[in-house]
Formats: sequence, C-alpha cells, structure tokens
Amino acid sequence: MSGARVIDGQAAAAAILAEVAGRIASRKRRGATAPGLATLLVGDDPASQSYVRSKNKRASEAGMRSFEHALPANTGEAELLALIASLNRDAAVHGILVQLPLPAQIDSGRVIESVDPAKDVDGFHPLNQGRLLSGGPGFVPCTPLGCLHLIKSVLPAPAGAEAVVVGRSNIVGKPMAQLLLRESCTVTVAHSKTRDLPSVCRRADILVAALGRPRMIQAGWIKPGAIVIDVGINRVSGAQGASRLVGDVDFEGAREIAGAITPVPGGVGPMTIAMLLRNTLEACERAGG
Ligand code: GUN
Repeated sequence: MSGARVIDGQAAAAAILAEVAGRIASRKRRGATAPGLATLLVGDDPASQSYVRSKNKRASEAGMRSFEHALPANTGEAELLALIASLNRDAAVHGILVQLPLPAQIDSGRVIESVDPAKDVDGFHPLNQGRLLSGGPGFVPCTPLGCLHLIKSVLPAPAGAEAVVVGRSNIVGKPMAQLLLRESCTVTVAHSKTRDLPSVCRRADILVAALGRPRMIQAGWIKPGAIVIDVGINRVSGAQGASRLVGDVDFEGAREIAGAITPVPGGVGPMTIAMLLRNTLEACERAGG
C-alpha cells in the first residue's frame, strides 16, 4: 500500500482562486477597477491554445477583465512588439502574458524584454528575474510559485532542507532554485548532464522534477519520506491507442517511498493559473488601480 500523502493541487488552486475572486469583488464594491489580464498567443499549437483558453476562462470567472489576442503563426516580431507597446500603455491592462514558445521568426528574448516589468505577471522579464535573485519586490514565475505553495502546504518552514531541482529552464528550474534558496534550503540544480542523477536525487528532502521526460524519476531515486513535486506534463500513448498525461516521476512507484507527492494531472498544473491570477491582482493593486 502507498505511504505518501497525495498533494491536492486542484483544491489548493481553488482556494487561491476563491481568495483572488473575493478580493476582486471587494474592489468592485468600493468602485475600484477590476484587474485586466491580456493574453497573447501566436500560432495554433493545440497545447498552448488550451493553456491560454484556461487562463482567460479562470480570469473571467475570478471577475477580471480578460483581453485575448490570438495572432496567426506568421506574425512578425515588429507586429507583436507594437501590440505589446500598446498594451503597456493601456491603463485597463495590468498583466500581460505572452504564451511561450513563440514561432521561430520571433526573438523571444526581445519580446519578453518589451513587456513593462510592472505588467510582467509571468515574471520572465530580466528585471523581475534579477529581483528574484536579489530579493526585491518583483513578479515571480507562476509555476515555481505554485510549487513552493504546495511544498509549504506540507512543510511550512523548509529552512535547512536539502532541495534538489531537476531541470534548469528559465521558466521553472532556475526560478524554483532561487525561491528555495530564499527559503533557506540547501539547493542543488541537476540537469541532463548531471553525473549520477539518481544519487543526487536521493539526497533530496524536497525533490522538484522539471526535466520534461515522462516517468524518468524512479522510486529508487527518492529518499524515504521526501516531498516530491512533479512539474512534468507529458502526453503518452496509453491503452487502446488513447493518450494520457503523465509526469516526470513514476508516480505509482514513487508514492510508495515519498512522504508527500503531487499527482499529474491535478498537482502543479492548476497552481500555475492560480498564481498567474494572484500576480495579476497584485499588479493591479500596485498600479493603484
Ligand atoms: N509556456 C509554458 N509555460 C508557460 C508559462 O508559465 N507562461 C507562459 N507565458 N508561457 C508558458
């Protein structure tokens, strides 16, 4: 039988969304503006379309204004930059989200740097990355923020814990490591070139898997009692040709060893949107709107 507590990301996200919706309702009651979130999607990648649709739907449900911009795959960089410049100037827009990845003809770095850091609710702008490093007041990327929330739901004071983050992307791995460092964990960032990855993972009291390889992390890589946070969302073919989602962790094996573990789906995934809406509300409050 399984020993691990299964961390319910759906419930944690619902609680945050309810809190955000309550704060927006009270803003409206006193005549303050509703937060506005602009989403920009370039191209027709089905996964990106589905993520952006969910972001807009949840934003509207929470009482936000949502401004959707779906642009064709052949959109030029200048056109996208011009749209972002107009959203930067628009007082009704408090948060701007450019869904990644962008098509090859567009330089993502230039696009990310063109977003007003005060509206960068994704926390991808170099100014916000820097503030995460130096401890200033900026926006933190939503997925790592959601992971930390789930970690703290199990371990409210993680100071001193050994944390291993597997993956070094700008969106998840690097900001996750910084957040855990800010919590005074001892942080190791492992990646595809790490020597003896299983033994590095076995050091972890907190293991965050964000490498994008279906079920790569095995039960034998996990320290008994560890908190395992699975950021992976991988579509694999299942029985009778159907496809299903699995994480980067072999959940069924790992739950026998871990102390607490997030499922896929229903773990980290719902937290990303919840944190996005919380960041957007905060951007609106900071703007004095
Ligand atoms: N693509 C994958 N994850 C994300 C995210 O959190 N934000 C944006 N903008 N694009 C993504």
